[in-house]
Amino acid sequence: MSKTFGVKEAAALARKEILSLKPYTSKPYPRAVKLDANENPFPWPDGMREELLGAELSLNRYPDGGAQELKRALAGYTGVSETGILPGNGSDELIQLIFTVFGGEGRAVVLHPPTFVMYETAARVTGTKVEEVPLRDDLRLDAEGIIKAASAPAAHVIILCNPNNPTGSRFAQEDILEIIRESGKVVVVDEAYAEFSGASMVEMVSRYPNLLIMRTFSKAFGLAGLRLGYLLGQDEIIDLLNRARQPFNVNAFSQKAGVTALRYESEYKKQIAVIQKEIGKIYRELNEIPGIRAYPTAANFVLFQCAAPAQLAEDLWARGFLVRNLGDIPVLGPSLRMSSGLPEENGRFLRAVREAMQE
Ligand SMILES: Cc1ncc(COP(=O)(O)O)c(C=O)c1O
Repeated sequence: MSKTFGVKEAAALARKEILSLKPYTSKPYPRAVKLDANENPFPWPDGMREELLGAELSLNRYPDGGAQELKRALAGYTGVSETGILPGNGSDELIQLIFTVFGGEGRAVVLHPPTFVMYETAARVTGTKVEEVPLRDDLRLDAEGIIKAASAPAAHVIILCNPNNPTGSRFAQEDILEIIRESGKVVVVDEAYAEFSGASMVEMVSRYPNLLIMRTFSKAFGLAGLRLGYLLGQDEIIDLLNRARQPFNVNAFSQKAGVTALRYESEYKKQIAVIQKEIGKIYRELNEIPGIRAYPTAANFVLFQCAAPAQLAEDLWARGFLVRNLGDIPVLGPSLRMSSGLPEENGRFLRAVREAMQE
């Protein structure tokens, strides 16, 4: 007779870092206006869906593991040479890849809470220790504190999220540059929202061999469902990461989608301009509601606070709006985050917040 093997036995064999992790969950949203994940609410530009679905793709074959066509298109878009580009199955995969190469047991990453939660999850999954240097009260980077934390021999990587999720704050270029120059460690600048902020460190890639820029098609380009991100860096650091990459990490359809989306860049720019205008309006109008404090943002989302955030999130959910209750985050405490929907949805959202706050 075979030995009993159940949940307990499986757990006993797993790494202990995994046992303390909670799976990432997101609410089902059949009828809600989804403002919780910082996506682009617009449909794809006219003609793009037909062009992509009509593309000739040999889906019975493995994709091009080198993603040559996508890299060519990205080189045109970013100005970084093809050999300095590494596409991934969303930035989430790339974060994990960075820790696979530069993190792991006995190594640490320096983070600036509050920031994107997946950095910590990926660190724990890979056994990488997390050193936290919180943002200053005015939501700026504590560059000095980060450089000091990074001076520990075990600290191999620093991740800066600019603009930062969830605060929306945009960091001073001098602070980022100081960290790149002074830390002597791998510095990842996550620019998931760069298309909205209009600011990027991409021109610094050729100057600094320890700089990695991370981008995604999930936000401004509206391809969140297709999972496509990329890293930019000098050839040597990209080559190191490429050694640990799964050979076919980006599927053929998503590669083609990225190439196609970049051809529609001018159409996306129009969507981005509308979202930027909407975000300005949301920020102003939220701040006019008694009991709400919204923070300035350089991204397509707004962080805001009120006396009972969990209750407000529930009240908004009951009215058909999904926002992200962030819980009690470092520096700011209990906070909510919402991303811009379509203009008409934003108008309804603001009315719903006013109503809910009056109750
Ligand atoms: C700062 C930041 N980086 C990366 C991501 C994830 O991007 P992807 O969809 O490419 O995995 C997100 C998504 O919310 C994000 O906010």
